[in-house]
Amino acid sequence: MTTTASDPSTVPTAEPIIEAQGLVKRYGGHVAVNGLDLTVYTGEIFGILGPNGAGKTTTLEMIEGLRAPDAGTIRVAGLDPATQGDAVRRLIGVQLQSTSLFDLLTIAELVELFAGLYGADDSPERVAALIAMVGLTEKRRARVDQLSGGQRQRVAIALALVNQPRIVFLDEPTTGLDPVARRALWATVHSIRDEGATVVLTTHYMEEADVLCDRVAVMDHGQIVACDTPAALVRSLRADATIRARLSGPLPMAELAALPSAIALDCGGDERCADLRLQTTDAQTTLIGLLALATRESVALAGLTTAQATLEDVFLHYTGRAYEVGEPAAERNERRGRRRRGIN
Ligand SMILES: Nc1ncnc2c1ncn2[C@@H]1O[C@H](COP(=O)(O)OP(=O)(O)O)[C@@H](O)[C@H]1O
Ligand SMILES: [Mg+2]
Repeated sequence: MTTTASDPSTVPTAEPIIEAQGLVKRYGGHVAVNGLDLTVYTGEIFGILGPNGAGKTTTLEMIEGLRAPDAGTIRVAGLDPATQGDAVRRLIGVQLQSTSLFDLLTIAELVELFAGLYGADDSPERVAALIAMVGLTEKRRARVDQLSGGQRQRVAIALALVNQPRIVFLDEPTTGLDPVARRALWATVHSIRDEGATVVLTTHYMEEADVLCDRVAVMDHGQIVACDTPAALVRSLRADATIRARLSGPLPMAELAALPSAIALDCGGDERCADLRLQTTDAQTTLIGLLALATRESVALAGLTTAQATLEDVFLHYTGRAYEVGEPAAERNERRGRRRRGIN
């Protein structure tokens, strides 16, 4: 596996605010984070993208100082979260899971309460500004139990901002939201960054990483397999396009892989390669070869398309397999419960 070099010139400033090296976290015999390095620069929206179980939450929690790594070093604004946890916590904001919010309070009351708890500014002006930042001004007198899922997520983010953190951590902030609510939340994340904070978020949505994040770390099996701007990640493939087709019958895999200009092949784990996905540096020559091969083998190609490479192709390229989110909701809910208990 190769790792792309990050290009700090593409972010607002190239001053590192988070640096992690050689991070390892084991749960019993299971290695959840396996020698992870990452650098986050001041003022960027940094995304950790990976399927469920990749180790995203574990990584965030180590950086936040909520979990001790088994090996490796972390610096957050020059501080070590393991030994200087209090100082780190004053600098960061962590999004709490919205289900733990106090249902019977209004948004304004809840924000005021949290600001008071943190010893932060809880004046009506500051409370109003925080609520405006997450786009809930019209709802400020609504009770939390009257809000939609997306609105609750935005309240959770407002609460993460009460202490004017320099770094805001959001763990899958848009999971379970509909596309409209997701876009509204992206706007909130942008406004947090525009106010001067650095944002670190995790996601398993390719599109979210692509549209929202300045730089993306692609994570799989506890490691970062590539890290750069979304555009640079796609460029690093040298792929002109991705060809997709459904095959009516088997084609020899070796011959598919050897087609002119083909650089990566994915058959969705299917011997017959019924669902073909082929990356190419030159779509035209690969297509000519593919059509000749299919004709010779009397195989029909249905739904033939060529499209520009995307982050999905980046994942395929660096991990050797297609991107699948996969994980039962129950397992995720269970872990969320654990995390909630850990934070509160
Ligand atoms: N407290 C825990 N105890 C045991 N295993 C865990 C625990 N937390 C996470 N894991 C396991 O570690 C791996 C990484 O989990 P996690 O960091 O939550 O990944 P992600 O956030 O990318 O879904 C998964 O296989 C998960 O089941
Ligand atoms: Mg997670």
